[in-house]
Amino acid sequence: MSEKDIKARIEWLREVIERENHHYYVLNDPEIDDREYDRLLSELKTLEEQNPQYFDPASPTQRVGSDIVSSFEQRAHRYPMLSLANTYNAEDLSEFDARCRKELGEDVKYVCELKFDGTAISLTYDKGVLTQALTRGDGTVGDDVTANVKTIKSVPLKLKGSDYPDFFEMRGEVIMPHASFERLNSEREQIGEQPFANPRNAAAGTLKQQMSQVVAERGLDCFLYYIVGDNLPFVSHFDALTKCREWGFKVSEHMKRFGSMREVLEYIDFWDKERKKLPYDTDGMVIKVDDLPEQRRMGTTAKAPRWAVAYKFKAERVATRLESIDYQVGRTGAVTPVANLSPVRLAGTTVKRASLHNADQIAILDIRVGDMVYVEKGGEIIPKVVGVDLSQRPEESKPLVFIERCPVCGTPLVRPEGEARHYCPNSDGCRPQKVGKIIHFVSRGAMNIDGLGDEIIEMLYDKGLIEDYADLYSLRREQLAALDRMGERSSDLLVSAIEASRNAPFHKLLFALGIRFVGATTASKLADAFGSLDALAAASFEELLAVEEVGEKIAGSIIDFFKSQHNIELIAKLKEAGVQTSAAKKELRSDRLAGMTIVISGTFSRHSREEYKDMITAHGGKNGSSVSKNTTWLLAGDNMGPAKLKKAEQLGVEIIDEERFLETIGEE
Ligand code: IVH
Repeated sequence: MSEKDIKARIEWLREVIERENHHYYVLNDPEIDDREYDRLLSELKTLEEQNPQYFDPASPTQRVGSDIVSSFEQRAHRYPMLSLANTYNAEDLSEFDARCRKELGEDVKYVCELKFDGTAISLTYDKGVLTQALTRGDGTVGDDVTANVKTIKSVPLKLKGSDYPDFFEMRGEVIMPHASFERLNSEREQIGEQPFANPRNAAAGTLKQQMSQVVAERGLDCFLYYIVGDNLPFVSHFDALTKCREWGFKVSEHMKRFGSMREVLEYIDFWDKERKKLPYDTDGMVIKVDDLPEQRRMGTTAKAPRWAVAYKFKAERVATRLESIDYQVGRTGAVTPVANLSPVRLAGTTVKRASLHNADQIAILDIRVGDMVYVEKGGEIIPKVVGVDLSQRPEESKPLVFIERCPVCGTPLVRPEGEARHYCPNSDGCRPQKVGKIIHFVSRGAMNIDGLGDEIIEMLYDKGLIEDYADLYSLRREQLAALDRMGERSSDLLVSAIEASRNAPFHKLLFALGIRFVGATTASKLADAFGSLDALAAASFEELLAVEEVGEKIAGSIIDFFKSQHNIELIAKLKEAGVQTSAAKKELRSDRLAGMTIVISGTFSRHSREEYKDMITAHGGKNGSSVSKNTTWLLAGDNMGPAKLKKAEQLGVEIIDEERFLETIGEE
């Protein structure tokens, strides 16, 4: 391809991919299938890597995020980010309506929108290109989270059409849809991380993630609901947002315009029920005066516009008796208090149990057994106890004392500093922890042993046939066939499934081991970096820290895991059983880079970054993700991250270019 053709092809690919992103993420109406999309994206990536002169920060390839750890710069908002006054009932809204009509006359029009329950964002567009994304912060100054926001596929990096203003800001809400939220929390629980309490916290926490790659994987979305700028060409809020939709913004289809507050109230009633069917959380509706000159006439207070209010939905809440409290112990030893309630109907289901969170929560609310408690289904899936009706407290009631010993094995509980949860530290001897580890070991993302459900594992454990996951490999088919509800055929299938799992790739085994804080992604990165269980077990704290995604908490947990005598024996058993404790060997082309850790940064002209990464391992070296004192070389291309360069200079790490690298490995 000629230089001109390459440029044209890159531009064409960018346009097609962004159009498809819009169809898929905004219009919910894909035009091409996933495979074709991946093919186009990978062609674009390759062309951009080979032709770094055409680098464009607004290219769809820039949505994948980077491994650069960023701390956020604070920047001032050009226009302050206000909040909204709240209303809670029809009466409050009538008052708002009366105020508006008094100031503006009788024929006020209102726009009614969903109030998205996420975290506010302000996007700057300069000549149709997204140049900056700031969080609300204190309303005057926010955090620059541009790299993270760019990974949200429904946020346009470049606008469609040409009639957009030269410079303006779009305000909206970054949300985490229920599906992404549930996936994220189950992944977090699997690796012993505290789950997020609700999608709002998850969205806010994700936006503040240090690595945009992680953000890209979490499935955020973004609705836009307000445009600000100087001399914008609109007279109506509704028309402005309709136009914004044409430029590519995700503006909710549920935005409606009404000529009276009566219609607004009907629409609110409709959504009060209907919202439960939405795939994301809303906590109310927002009512705005539609006419922009009228908005300006009403103006703002220091905190909020006077031309708009939020209407908050009531969370459904019922009162019922707290009968008793159970304490559950999870795989990681975390102890969760659970309330047993007199059964009560709430939002369409009968509730018998509800979450009590942790000891602090119980103390703050002074929850006691025998109390009438209020239960709510909020953004969370599991109902929770939110308060106590003190007027109905039985006279003889006593404050609740949180248990001090594990309810299962009796070991004294510990509460790590700075954590709200209690843990049973007896990880090698406490039944739910031991069984939980086996359940995790066989799960789909780990060794993927089909046919070994939780109940069968519990039976095998209780009958003393297995003590830990390594014992699975010595199970015989007669032992399985003797279990309740297990036939000959299913025992045969199960034995073969266990057998087959011996060949599971090393990174799956590493995840299956259940090392605290080591999720599937981290396990893959560790497998790439160390190649075998022995090498990982021998790694020092610093060597672990040099691996992508690994911070002090994870490194410490890995070191602890391999120190434990119990785990040393467990690993010996696994090896004996013949599971894969090292990565399939890629052929070593030389050992010219043996003992070296090399960090790659920037874009290259001779080979792609991925190719360079492969070359490093093929010649015996290790890939590092961030520059540290263990880094041998920083292999630098164009547009290298300034943070990496500075760090390398500070630490005296040698910076080399691709020519020098290729020369070293003898592949010029
Ligand atoms: S309008 C000046 N519209 O609710 C106009 N806000 O409680 C400012 N929110 O800070 C906001 N959905 O983060 C507006 N459709 C919507 C909204 C919305 C959610 C958030 C926003 C705001 C907060 C106020």
